[in-house]
Amino acid sequence: MFSLKGKTALVTGSGRGIGLAIADALAQQGADVFLSDINADVVEKAAADLAARHTGVAVRSLVFDVTNKKQIEEAMRTIAAAGGLQILVNNAGINLREPVAGMSDEVWQRMLDTNLTSVFRVSRAAYPLLRERGGKVINLCSLMSEIARPTVSPYASTKGAVRQFTRALATEWAADNIQVNGIAPGFIATDMNIPLMEDKELNGYIMRHTPAKRWGKPSEVASVAAFLASPGADFVTGQVIFIDGGFIVSL
Ligand code: NAP
Ligand code: GCO
Repeated sequence: MFSLKGKTALVTGSGRGIGLAIADALAQQGADVFLSDINADVVEKAAADLAARHTGVAVRSLVFDVTNKKQIEEAMRTIAAAGGLQILVNNAGINLREPVAGMSDEVWQRMLDTNLTSVFRVSRAAYPLLRERGGKVINLCSLMSEIARPTVSPYASTKGAVRQFTRALATEWAADNIQVNGIAPGFIATDMNIPLMEDKELNGYIMRHTPAKRWGKPSEVASVAAFLASPGADFVTGQVIFIDGGFIVSL
């Protein structure tokens, strides 16, 4: 029910962090995995480490920028030539934190391009492959798809949009047996959040307002992605699962 044997997955932004944890979890469940990232050194080392840990599956690396249409199309040609794709995880994302007042168009546009338009473009490019045998799309949303705080306006805007895009795409692709879901991590201990973990006051606030009283681990996000990628979730689509230690439901 949860085996991914015979499936091929692509995880964007998987050189480190949550994306790498997701790639690891999918390989652990038997999927062949393409890791991808903009940083060749990082993703090639990550893929080599993963291949050493999961000898029963194919682990390959692709270097492409999710904001670059040509590179996305080239990556999909490579995946098609290797046998096709059944699982797409749109994980790559950034968080440039600053107040709206004074924010440049460039910062805003870079956030839109990386966090939102990339999800549209990579999904669109993957569709011909996914529809061959049916498949899964898993989009990285966020706690900030639902709530917000000062200095994360472009991040919250893009993650709110990814949640709605997930729901809409789910309705379009269900008839092709492609399930589209989102995962919305809360405060997870990755490089993206080093500034928060190092900010005594903010870190204290996060700990006080997280019922679980701790930061989440990338592996705790990855396990939910592995479920959504599996046949066990074939009738789940258009859903966004919050993985936040209870943050979103707590006063
Ligand atoms: P991270 O540690 O910063 O890793 C992000 C990865 O994406 C990096 O490997 C980065 O490459 C890559 N990337 C950035 N821009 C890219 C591009 N244009 N093309 C291809 N790859 C690109 O972030 P994370 O914490 O693992 O977050 C992963 C996803 O989860 C993001 O979408 C984030 O918004 C979401 N999320 C994270 C949290 C959290 O608490 N950490 C919570 C909710 C949602 P480089 O190494 O070259 O920078
Ligand atoms: C921030 C954090 C958060 C987390 C996560 C919450 O600046 O508030 O980066 O956005 O990364 O997205 O779900």
